[in-house]
Amino acid sequence: MAKISISMAVNGKPVSTTLDPRTLLVQFLREKLLLTGTHVGCDTSQCGACVVLVDGAAVKSCTMLAVQADGTSVTTIEGVAGPAGLHPMQEAFREHHGLQCGFCTPGMIMSALDMVARLGPALDAATIRENLEGNLCRCTGYHNIVKAIAAGAEAMGAGAKAAAE
Ligand code: FES
Ligand code: FES
Repeated sequence: MAKISISMAVNGKPVSTTLDPRTLLVQFLREKLLLTGTHVGCDTSQCGACVVLVDGAAVKSCTMLAVQADGTSVTTIEGVAGPAGLHPMQEAFREHHGLQCGFCTPGMIMSALDMVARLGPALDAATIRENLEGNLCRCTGYHNIVKAIAAGAEAMGAGAKAAAE
């Protein structure tokens, strides 16, 4: 099959490549860019381990072709921490024991960031659980993930408020 050229920003850096048009976004990120923090946990589009942000919105990167991301800005877990250290959402997962094996964690964090962007920083447990239905975790029982997301969202809100003052 003829190759196709695409360009996008990945974690703020411009990327241009030529690839088989059947390449999934997750394959492109993991196998071509070696950004292996984005995981593949199923072949049924159910687990959410592959969630990344495309133009700020959470997307299961196993359900999207890389060519569909042409011209977009993609953020993976590798692009979340800042120069000063962990992102507040990452810090909250660490602080509240929101992970055990860690396999689901990148997808959980990307979904959490999407949640804060859509719904704001004051998230109650029921809202978090409802919005996390596309992310599966085999280890934690979800309680600490919900706590971590609530705390991370609150910290993001406090940080944004402080920056605006
Ligand atoms: Fe499971 Fe994408 S790898 S939803
Ligand atoms: Fe192991 Fe979620 S921490 S799958």
